[in-house]
Amino acid sequence: MSEKSNTPEIKKGLVGVYADVSTISKVMPETNSLTYGGYAVQDLCESCSFEEVAYLLWHGELPTAAQLEAFRREEAAQRAISPALHRVIREFPHDGHPMDAIRTAVSFMGLEDPEAGDVSDAAQRRKAMRLLAKIPTCIAAAHRASKGLEPIEPNPAHSFGENFFNLVFGKVPQPEVLKAFDVSLILYAEHTFNASTYTARLVTSTGADIHGAITAAIAALKGPLHGGANEAVMHMLKEIGDPKIAREWLQSRFDHKALVMGFGHRVYKSGDSRVPTMRKYAEKMAEVVGDRTWMEISRILADEMLTKKNIHPNLDFPAGPAYYLMGFDIPLFTPIFVASRITGWAAHVFEQGADNRLIRPLSWYTGPEQRPVPALDAR
Ligand code: COA
Repeated sequence: MSEKSNTPEIKKGLVGVYADVSTISKVMPETNSLTYGGYAVQDLCESCSFEEVAYLLWHGELPTAAQLEAFRREEAAQRAISPALHRVIREFPHDGHPMDAIRTAVSFMGLEDPEAGDVSDAAQRRKAMRLLAKIPTCIAAAHRASKGLEPIEPNPAHSFGENFFNLVFGKVPQPEVLKAFDVSLILYAEHTFNASTYTARLVTSTGADIHGAITAAIAALKGPLHGGANEAVMHMLKEIGDPKIAREWLQSRFDHKALVMGFGHRVYKSGDSRVPTMRKYAEKMAEVVGDRTWMEISRILADEMLTKKNIHPNLDFPAGPAYYLMGFDIPLFTPIFVASRITGWAAHVFEQGADNRLIRPLSWYTGPEQRPVPALDAR
């Protein structure tokens, strides 16, 4: 048997590999659908708030009215961050990316957390709630500091969505905008073993704590092939600028064999389950703002990509313009994804911790054969 035929089958990028079982969510690419705890994500978007979905991800069932009230109260009570963290955030370089700021803030909160070393399920859940509550405060404080503005104190009377807008802008928008934002949070909350979630599970499998797992997950999410795509989409739409030149712009991307951001997906090959719902709400934002430019460019790109390349848009494609129309600066788009995905990441941290085995794959060595170490003057 030749050396070559001994090589095991390598699934580059772990394509098609089932790494574990999970009860949290299910992607069904054959029907372009996604469920959280058995509920279709588009139904959750129409019937539930983000807080209800966060509860579902962490408990496996939707909350009763009393359970939801308790969950909301607990989250609202923990939004404030320490004076030390405020000082650290003020010292961040103002031209740094907000994803690096939130990654650093989460790591810092791990240092401060009273239960830092406790990886019991109960402690991990309490820490996850603190992270859910405090992440928007950190994102907004870093964003405002980068513009030379003072942070805004969280208001415990606000819902999760209202709180986010108030922390960033100092005001709460109209209900249509809040609903579209909530829908985006629900759609971003969870998506099986994507790169950042798997990162969180891998770190958890070593026995490390949730702040370490979430810090690593944020680092993974930042990449433009993953969560960073929602920002890249908006930069692309702005670069095109005018629907009249969208086809020509896309053709030049094809000519250069370049990626078109917001298109393609590792699992969905005939459409991302989340896109129709997010597109509907992005269209609503275009109506509210009275500017259809971005949705019109998006429509042309999506039609052309499908006709010419048979590639469908992913969630980041409608989410980018939706956030822009809501008034957010582009570098805040992926941090908003963090504010939502902390729910899914934490659910996976709990699940991994409950039935753990260290994640440690093998590598097939293709370097030089074993050889003697030459002396320094003989090299
Ligand atoms: N633009 C142009 N071509 C694309 C593309 C895109 N966004 N996404 C996939 N393709 C092409 C690939 O070049 C490849 O073509 P080839 O067979 O001629 O080489 C083919 O479609 C299959 O794609 P592949 O790279 O095997 O898919 P993947 O599962 O490894 O990668 C992504 C999935 C998401 C990383 C990839 O689609 C991508 O980079 N998309 C842009 C970034 C993005 O939007 N990320 C957010 C994901 S939710």
